[in-house]
Amino acid sequence: MVKVWIVGAGGQLGTAINEVLDPLEAEVFNTDKEELDITHTDEVIGFGEINRPDVIINCAAVTDTGLCEAQPELAYRVNALGARNLSIVARKTGAKIVQLSTDDVFDGLSTTPYSEFDDTNPLTVYGRSKRAGENYVKEFTHKHFIVRSNWVYGRGENFVNSVIEKAKSQRELPVASDQFGSPTSARDLGRIILHLIRTNEYGTYHATCKGTCSRYEFAKEILKLAGLEAELRPVPTRESELSSVRPAYAVLDNFILRIIDVYEMPGWRASLEEYMEEWMNRGGIG
Ligand SMILES: NC(=O)c1ccc[n+]([C@@H]2O[C@H](COP(=O)([O-])OP(=O)(O)OC[C@H]3O[C@@H](n4cnc5c(N)ncnc54)[C@H](OP(=O)(O)O)[C@@H]3O)[C@@H](O)[C@H]2O)c1
Repeated sequence: MVKVWIVGAGGQLGTAINEVLDPLEAEVFNTDKEELDITHTDEVIGFGEINRPDVIINCAAVTDTGLCEAQPELAYRVNALGARNLSIVARKTGAKIVQLSTDDVFDGLSTTPYSEFDDTNPLTVYGRSKRAGENYVKEFTHKHFIVRSNWVYGRGENFVNSVIEKAKSQRELPVASDQFGSPTSARDLGRIILHLIRTNEYGTYHATCKGTCSRYEFAKEILKLAGLEAELRPVPTRESELSSVRPAYAVLDNFILRIIDVYEMPGWRASLEEYMEEWMNRGGIG
């Protein structure tokens, strides 16, 4: 049985991986900030040496982009040095490591999707700290999968849940029509990660659901599936409460997945439908 350590297990992706993982296939160690802060180097190494995981999946991060701008030291401590600490463990124990990353490592100025071979150029503290995390992982161990995704939603705070909450109390919602991306459910991201860790195909991957839309189109689909009536108004990002300032064109091309032809991500609408069905079954909560 493979031993998997899920770091940041209480977040959206950590929760989703636990939901899609087959308990008969893996022994799982879940940790989050409360049990083990990844910035505490000696404790992280100690935990790794005692439990000797076969795979480390690092879902822990400071993902609030505004908080990263306000507290860059915190962003670099967690997103860069935390990733370094886990990759030290991977190197010492021979474990594979999955490091989650983001489209924010690109500047968003392109008009065509970014592939894994495009040069990064992050413009935000979040993006720069995530790129620093990628670099540490590459430096410390070759048995790595760097998985970049975008517009991830699952159980937690995200665009889908914010749109639903706002639509319950506001008749009109201004939503950015100038930000483009590929909405990706945390579960579908979890599934591709579980596929990759069974292989030795190390390297950097872009993994988003197929298709592209604007925030406005995304919100429209969310309201339709939730059966909510609020009216959406397309606006520039600066006039929308629902979008932080992010790369305008956050579209990743899953180029490597496509050329190795072993795994296909689902379309974003189908993925959202699965999520919203679950949301209905939970009685419309979180
Ligand atoms: N969400 C997206 O749209 C998106 C897009 C692309 C890539 N990603 C990447 O995917 C990964 C998972 O994202 P997510 O949406 O699941 O994030 P999330 O919901 O914000 O979860 C992150 C988890 O990390 C924990 N954490 C923060 N600081 C920590 C520390 N010092 N030590 C241990 N745990 C710590 C958080 O705990 P607290 O909540 O208590 O702080 C939280 O449980 C991240 O690497 C993120 O950069 C996310």
